[in-house]
Amino acid sequence: MNSRIIFFDTTLRDGEQSPGVALNLKQKIEIAKALVELGIDVIEAGFPVTSPGDFQAVQALAKELKGVTVAALARANPKDIDTAWEALKGAESPRIHTFIATSDIHMKYKLKKTKEEVLELAKNAVSYAKSLVPDVEFSAEDATRSDREFLAQVVLEVVRAGATTVNIPDTVGYTVPQEYHDLIKYLIEQLIKAGYEESLREGTLRISVHCHNDLGLAVANSISAVLAGATQIEGTINGIGERAGNAALEEIIMTLKTRADFFKSKLGYEPEVNINTTKIVPVSQLVSKYTGMVIQPNKAIVGANAFAHESGIHQHGVLCERSTYEIINPEDIGWTGSAIVLGKHSGRHAIAYKLESLGWHLSKEQIDRVFERYREEVKDILRQVEDAYLEGIVLDLLLENEYRYKLLSSQVISVLSGSLKPIAQVEIEDKREGRRVSVGLGVGPIDAAYKAVAGALGYTFEREKDKKPLKLVDFHIDALSGGTSAEGICAVILEDEAGRRSAGLGRDGDIVIASLKALIKALNRREAYLEKGEKLKASL
Ligand code: KIV
Ligand code: ZN
Repeated sequence: MNSRIIFFDTTLRDGEQSPGVALNLKQKIEIAKALVELGIDVIEAGFPVTSPGDFQAVQALAKELKGVTVAALARANPKDIDTAWEALKGAESPRIHTFIATSDIHMKYKLKKTKEEVLELAKNAVSYAKSLVPDVEFSAEDATRSDREFLAQVVLEVVRAGATTVNIPDTVGYTVPQEYHDLIKYLIEQLIKAGYEESLREGTLRISVHCHNDLGLAVANSISAVLAGATQIEGTINGIGERAGNAALEEIIMTLKTRADFFKSKLGYEPEVNINTTKIVPVSQLVSKYTGMVIQPNKAIVGANAFAHESGIHQHGVLCERSTYEIINPEDIGWTGSAIVLGKHSGRHAIAYKLESLGWHLSKEQIDRVFERYREEVKDILRQVEDAYLEGIVLDLLLENEYRYKLLSSQVISVLSGSLKPIAQVEIEDKREGRRVSVGLGVGPIDAAYKAVAGALGYTFEREKDKKPLKLVDFHIDALSGGTSAEGICAVILEDEAGRRSAGLGRDGDIVIASLKALIKALNRREAYLEKGEKLKASL
């Protein structure tokens, strides 16, 4: 079999068929260019007959893209094929991709045609497409639920009619790896028997696979097909697509790369993967941004947690030697590196590593004390501990909680309805400027209290002139137990215009007071860092 694997990306066609996704032309061009940089061989740009918008998009992409084959989809009829060709004409390397369903269920209920009629339509469509362009792909829709002998007959006939790629889609995500492997192997055997071995070896004829993910097996099925001799793989970035989506190309690429040893042992050669893997994460994030389809954090390869380590044992392992818990170097696929995430299960090694990376070169005893505080104050409270909390603990320890502001008293009035607004009054001792009293109105009592504090200390959360602007990037309150008398814990992260973050936690039986304590803590840590942080770091 030809060792070069052709990657066929259908993010802009099957991917765009995801519910709720609509890409504009500019976005399509940007994604397509990113796919070219990634090293994708064929980009399916759209299904031109379905709408003028799709037609124009294919036409624009065909003209714009260089160094890649541009494919357009067409049902097995002259009108669809003509429209696809019309849209593709300007392409450097055009491909017409025509399809018809071959399963009994589709032929009977959707097409209302007999096997003989479908075979005829398939042959004619390929011959007609071939009269327009040398590169023709044929897909037997719902191939995995088709009668095997009939499918083989269709495959042979379309190859005789000129198809250079024959795609065997698992349209409804129904097959399982072993079954799909056997089907691909069987079809290749039929082609070899019919005299096409040389073309398959040269790569002038390819069997392609196109898997949907209804049972979560799209990637596994695609991989099993490669082991059976398929040399073109179709899929989308991030696995987007109809229903449960298509096979995620980034996962297939990295499986072939990472386990090249295994594929070589089974196939007798290493599958050639001409992909610039460092572009995987950027293209994944671009597709997510434009489609609005969020990448689940635990998604393989491109999920935010794919290279994040939270448990103490794993963090220790990765810090000693990355390969203990990582099978891919994250930098090879475009991440900036492994992420040590502080959380409930993090241990001393991770804390020491984080402190060092934040520029706090503490002694062993100091690290032990930070770790103790971390365990007492935040470990069981926060699901994920931002660096700002850790830095806050260091400042508390080094400055022995000697901070600038102290909340002396506060009073808050809630309002049920009408034209009145919740109002808060705060009294704060500022070690430098003396006692400050201020009043704030807000949407609710906490909002009013925060405005009062901001007013008292010269800050603003609302970009008021001549005040120091701050953004509240995180604010949440949790109850530490059940019932109305439960202690509330408030977590606050502030960010200034320079992007510096400071964090604070506050606990109290009154959630407004807990919120105020958290804010004052975060403000104190911020002021302390700005005044003394760098000097403290340098002195360690
Ligand atoms: O899933 C499918 O069968 C398809 C074909 C049109 C290739 O998307
Ligand atoms: Zn599909």
